[in-house]
Amino acid sequence: MKKIIEFNKINFGYEKNLPILKDVSFVINEGEYICVVGHNGCGKSTISKILIGLLKPWSGEIKLFDQIIDQSNYHLLRENIGVIFQNPENQFVGLTVEDDIAFGLENKQIDPLKMENIITSVAKTLKIDKLLKLGPQNLSGGEKQKVAIASILAMEPKIIVFDEATAMLDPKSKKEIKNLMLELKQKYHKTIISITHDMDEAVNADKILLMNSGQVQDFAPPFTIFQQKDKVKDAALDQPFILKLSTE
Ligand SMILES: Nc1ncnc2c1ncn2[C@@H]1O[C@H](COP(=O)(O)OP(=O)(O)O)[C@@H](O)[C@H]1O
Ligand SMILES: [Mg+2]
Repeated sequence: MKKIIEFNKINFGYEKNLPILKDVSFVINEGEYICVVGHNGCGKSTISKILIGLLKPWSGEIKLFDQIIDQSNYHLLRENIGVIFQNPENQFVGLTVEDDIAFGLENKQIDPLKMENIITSVAKTLKIDKLLKLGPQNLSGGEKQKVAIASILAMEPKIIVFDEATAMLDPKSKKEIKNLMLELKQKYHKTIISITHDMDEAVNADKILLMNSGQVQDFAPPFTIFQQKDKVKDAALDQPFILKLSTE
């Protein structure tokens, strides 16, 4: 397997002398689907912001495709990693769905002729082709999240981070977005990093990164994580439904 992203003893805090991430290390391979779980405030979103280059670590090393990230190539993070946040309201930048997807492409100075093809193609993948001419006020939360994903997908990132992207959605949209994450991995060979409290989602991941107070507590396949009853209890994780069922 090929490494795609590596954190090596990353330390970070928002205020001096108040570390939030402590020696965070992990390696994610190309095409993996990783779920990041842990208490509120344990540093999950902070990891996602470091991943996309929004925050810079105090110390430690980030590698992307085996290349060390430093001042000179920080842009590589932003170019290769896209993120979907929790609130679909805050992610719409265009007047219509089409404009919204076009926005990132225009910034990247993509040829307008190619742009149309890209928009049609991602709209099809997300099954939002009928929404292209609509404005945000006409869309449901789930549809807005799909537009956000389409806008990211259009930029062709290798890695997509979902930061509790399904938390505010109705059950049906939640399910659609979760299926979509699997499809992006299986059909489009994207590497997916999903921050979630949904253990029925986490059970489908290749590996779970279990965070606790800014530290990596475990990084292992779901089966291994959920077997460790004490850890599951400490982290206040729910048991996935299928495990509950088999315990009964
Ligand atoms: N912009 C910020 N300024 C100061 N502290 C912050 C900021 N963002 C988050 N924090 C603090 O960092 C810690 C980790 O936050 P976060 O990464 O958002 O946790 P999670 O996503 O796991 O809920 C929390 O204690 C939070 O209060
Ligand atoms: Mg968070």
